[in-house]
Amino acid sequence: MKNIKRINLEIWPTPIHKLSRFGQLIGNENTYIKRDDISLTGLGGNKLRKLEYWLGEARSREATKIVVAGGEQSNLVRLTAAACAKSGFDCIAIHNCKRPARFQGNMLLNKLFGAEQIFIGDVTEGERDLFVKDKISQLTKIGEVPYCINNEEIGSLGYTNCLYEIDNQSPDTKHLVIVGAMGITASGFIFANRVLKNKYTIHVISVEYEKEKLIKILAKKLLFLEGNALEDVSWLKFDKSDLEKQYNSYVYDDYMGKGWGITTEESLQTIREMAQLEGILLDHVYNAKTFTGLKGLVANGVIKNGEKTCIVHTGGAPAIFGHAEIYQDLDNS
Ligand SMILES: Cc1ncc(COP(=O)(O)O)c(C=O)c1O
Repeated sequence: MKNIKRINLEIWPTPIHKLSRFGQLIGNENTYIKRDDISLTGLGGNKLRKLEYWLGEARSREATKIVVAGGEQSNLVRLTAAACAKSGFDCIAIHNCKRPARFQGNMLLNKLFGAEQIFIGDVTEGERDLFVKDKISQLTKIGEVPYCINNEEIGSLGYTNCLYEIDNQSPDTKHLVIVGAMGITASGFIFANRVLKNKYTIHVISVEYEKEKLIKILAKKLLFLEGNALEDVSWLKFDKSDLEKQYNSYVYDDYMGKGWGITTEESLQTIREMAQLEGILLDHVYNAKTFTGLKGLVANGVIKNGEKTCIVHTGGAPAIFGHAEIYQDLDNS
């Protein structure tokens, strides 16, 4: 990418393998998984591809402190803390929650990775952003060079690489299924697909916003990528009015239930199925709903039996240990 530095945090590519038993259950035996949930640093997850660019930018600005903000079980904070440890940065984690009585899940890992943790109570994200701004100016005043992990467009660059990996590892794939929250992950994917002349059909399962809103978010990030990609994309004529056809990428909001982080009966069932048929753990916020989306796409014929399909697991399982209450009554019948 033009002028954007990258550091290396991992050994890429992440593996792809077949989901034999889950594929059989859902009615497509040609179902594969891209394991972005397992990697070398900090128990893995999609943030590592983004952090390679964020920390690359931080290093090129000679940053002395990395500032990251997130809720109690934030995967972003956990992986930032781990990536900072690995690359020699000091990490300040600002949490919009009370100091927990007992550190569990991601929160416990942040401590182990040596992040300085600041708890600002149960405030809104807007209030948290103000606190972060204030912290950045305090750090600057005392001579530090803070870098805040918040540029979503730079984060998207990381996910272009994921699609190019899949193209090398499994070029006969037809469908790709991926999560959509803030669209950082999905926009990188969609952009790379456009560079490959829309070879794959991409299905983005929204877990946070309604379809129209997520499409707008994706469009903004795609425009940034078009301006900053290393590849010559001058042939791309961007037309915001028809994102889905133009990028052969489709967005679904049928699987998010009542919203971000709120489980549905189906998403809990998918967690149980993936654990008990494949030995793979899904988090309840992102991947449980994305994998439920895959089931829905096969059930209603969008993906047909035999069509090679690859779903990206974006990680997040450590949060299970911070949300034990969700799993206590998991029905095993
Ligand atoms: C495990 C996991 N998967 C998916 C996402 C969503 O990624 P994006 O915001 O890029 O859509 C997140 C974001 O926090 C995450 O932690």
